[in-house]
Amino acid sequence: MNAILTLENVSADLGGMLVINDVSMSIPVGQIVGLIGPNGSGKSTLLNLIGGTLRPLRGSIAFDGREISRLKPDAIFRLGIGRAFQDPALFVNMSVLDNTILPIQGQRGETPWNAPRRHLWVHEEQGNALSAQDALAQVNLDGHTRKLASDLSGGQMKLLEIARSTMGAPRLLLLDEPTAGVAPRLARQIFEQINEMRHTLGLTFLIVEHRLDILFDFADTVYVMHQGGILMHGTPDAVAADRQVREVYIGY
Ligand SMILES: Nc1ncnc2c1ncn2[C@@H]1O[C@H](COP(=O)(O)OP(=O)(O)O)[C@@H](O)[C@H]1O
Ligand SMILES: [Mg+2]
Repeated sequence: MNAILTLENVSADLGGMLVINDVSMSIPVGQIVGLIGPNGSGKSTLLNLIGGTLRPLRGSIAFDGREISRLKPDAIFRLGIGRAFQDPALFVNMSVLDNTILPIQGQRGETPWNAPRRHLWVHEEQGNALSAQDALAQVNLDGHTRKLASDLSGGQMKLLEIARSTMGAPRLLLLDEPTAGVAPRLARQIFEQINEMRHTLGLTFLIVEHRLDILFDFADTVYVMHQGGILMHGTPDAVAADRQVREVYIGY
């Protein structure tokens, strides 16, 4: 299978502690890949390594066959890896539309409307670069563009964060707990939107998620982290049936 992202023997430390230990993984293009594991097992740190906010001690991270582990976060973003954080970093006194445009503006120092177009031009082969309006429509927020971000519900804020991460036409999205703090029914809706974006935009997703019931309904592959390493990976069914995985989750 064609991998869009490959990690080989990646290790990293934080404050002198080895928190990522010899991690290898392969993210097939077009898949929704889940990343699960108990609290503190290293999931967010792994996303930081891929997104470039942390550098590995050892190992290789390749996006589309190109080594990215020494690149800065903005360079990794421009190559096509988008990111949404667990706590939406929204500007509550700005409109939903402006919140969506802002990261692009900040990245390039250009006018809000030229930035996405330039990106469209630079990466014309992607053909699906999104304007903010389109990005918001993808998550059913196009009726709320003029509202202040502070007037959105918790679930809508998560959707706005996801819409914003698609600006700049990424090919791989890293999502850290996209349903955190969201009511169960809305959590499922968020995954339905993600699944739709995967098909309409040809996106690949790596998603940290603790709601296993919902994740397992949408993920193609699930990686299980434990104490900084990968315990196993496989289909949701294989992961759910694994004895070691059950043991790791006891008491969690
Ligand atoms: N800034 C930091 N400095 C030192 N240790 C950290 C820091 N952030 C996280 N850790 C430690 O790294 C490990 C992995 O954390 P994290 O990646 O946040 O786990 P997860 O997202 O799976 O809950 C944990 O043991 C955590 O205590
Ligand atoms: Mg985390």
